[in-house]
Amino acid sequence: MTGMNEILLALQNASVQYGGVRALENVTTQIDEGEIVALMGPNGAGKSTALKALFGIVPMTEGRVLWHGKKIIPVPYEMSARGITFVPQGRQVFKSLTVYENLELGGYSLPNRRDLKNNIESVLQFFPGLKPKLGVKAGVLSGGQQQMLTIGRGLVADPKVLLLDEPSLGLSPKIVQEVFEKVREINLSRKIAVVIVEHSVKSVLSIAHRAYLMSHGKVIASRNAGEFEGSGELEQAFLASGTMRR
Ligand SMILES: Nc1ncnc2c1ncn2[C@@H]1O[C@H](COP(=O)(O)OP(=O)(O)O)[C@@H](O)[C@H]1O
Ligand SMILES: [Mg+2]
Repeated sequence: MTGMNEILLALQNASVQYGGVRALENVTTQIDEGEIVALMGPNGAGKSTALKALFGIVPMTEGRVLWHGKKIIPVPYEMSARGITFVPQGRQVFKSLTVYENLELGGYSLPNRRDLKNNIESVLQFFPGLKPKLGVKAGVLSGGQQQMLTIGRGLVADPKVLLLDEPSLGLSPKIVQEVFEKVREINLSRKIAVVIVEHSVKSVLSIAHRAYLMSHGKVIASRNAGEFEGSGELEQAFLASGTMRR
């Protein structure tokens, strides 16, 4: 897809340090309009840090963020206002609030109640499983439903880009497949570009257009999703860390 569509969001030559830990070293990634891009790699590779740097949650020691080709200083609430949503890892629902209240929080940047109501309505068409649960406290939902809720909450703002961190974490393979199907559907029908962080390589490659493979804070390969199988790089990256997951 690269080259066909406009580059929406890019991280260029980004480095991040946590105290003495070099978490990201000279990382460059980009997401084009309409794409699903995967950031893959073993635990500790720097995948979450790359998303956080893009969204302005962690400061970069070097590098820059481009939005529609122009340099911006990433600040989370400004990124939201631009139409970029970040769904952090770990299914962070507000457990003591209802499902509906959780969805409402996703629309805090919307200008009025009517937009909020309409957007929640359209999100619920994607997640019909949440409809009978709207009045229920989010804490009692299953893990899979909570993951759907965090993604749904991210969509209430009607973003152009969704940054999705490890939606498969702690879910059964069947539920993971459902979540990924949902992500693909969202991308297709709403034309939302998705950056999805995953260590579960096989399922993410089944929905991604392009993928970056990260290891030890660096991007070690960048290809169309179909070109990773058999390339040997996956095995190399994951075997080195002892955490291969298919
Ligand atoms: N808040 C933090 N403080 C110190 N080190 C961190 C922090 N967050 C992440 N790290 C370290 O940075 C590296 C990259 O972490 P992370 O981006 O979370 O990797 P991934 O998402 O690929 O598992 C790891 O070595 C991790 O231990
Ligand atoms: Mg992570």
